Amino acid sequence: MNKTITIDQIKAAAEEAYQLYRNNTAGKNADYIPYLANIDKNLFGISICLLDGRTIEFGDTQYKFGIESVSKVHTAILVIRQSGTDELLNKIGADATGLPFNSIFAILLEKDHPSTPLVNAGAITACSMIQPVGDADKKWEAIVSNITELCGSAPQLIDELYQSESATNFNNRSISWLLKNYNRMYDDPDKSLDLYTRQCSLGITAQQLAICGATIANKGLNPVSKLQVFDAGASSKITSLIATVGFYEHTGDWLYTSGIPAKTGVGGGVMGTLPGLFGIAAFAPPIDDAGNSVKAQLAIKYIMNKLELSVF
Ligand code: DON
Repeated sequence: MNKTITIDQIKAAAEEAYQLYRNNTAGKNADYIPYLANIDKNLFGISICLLDGRTIEFGDTQYKFGIESVSKVHTAILVIRQSGTDELLNKIGADATGLPFNSIFAILLEKDHPSTPLVNAGAITACSMIQPVGDADKKWEAIVSNITELCGSAPQLIDELYQSESATNFNNRSISWLLKNYNRMYDDPDKSLDLYTRQCSLGITAQQLAICGATIANKGLNPVSKLQVFDAGASSKITSLIATVGFYEHTGDWLYTSGIPAKTGVGGGVMGTLPGLFGIAAFAPPIDDAGNSVKAQLAIKYIMNKLELSVF
């Protein structure tokens, strides 16, 4: 992206967005996972990380919330790091489903692959592919260490969220075994689902996600830690996955109105990546019908439009 833009312009736009939406009460906390229903609905934070490592912060950017589906990006990156971009395409795919994140119908429609690592089915397959296959403890270490490298600091398991989600994830259990039925599980289905559930239950801050977005925007080089986390050539693949399905059935509307590839989670986080410019994350628990944070969407859209930026 060639557009010249100053940190002061970005800061001003982010502050305006923060003030404009901080009292917005639209949306409702996710309640199909009991822990999420009880999170303070007024929490709100916006964090931006520039590619020189400077960060811009407004609001609750240090609050550790459930990373949920944003973690699907991290684990897709880990599959690419361990097995390469072709293997991800062949075993999972890079297509939009046009359907909700937890759709079983999407699996039935595309029996030969789970479409994308950024919906539940593809993310559970991705967990099954993580190496070393057969060793859940080592796989978990690899998942956490990959997130740590991408975000520049470690995430922390929210045990209460993990217990809450494990006790209620019946739909995901069906997905896992349906994938097994179609030969799209590469490790034990229950253990792969458990890894997925645990990664979704990691606590992360908006600041950490902004740094991860910036690492993707910076061709795999974490701008804060200066670590080359993944091969530069993979960054366009990762960004294309996010652009294609980051907002599930609303991804087209999102890209059309915001101009930035971004990934959401029902914990209220949204992580965006603008190649060559910055990573951005916003967090606010109340979500819309598709499971996407209302305030985080409004804030990021406002900033993108105010700065007249678009990935296109
Ligand atoms: O599998 C689930 O239902 C949750 N762990 C994650 C869903 C999610 O975050 C959807 N995204 N907005």
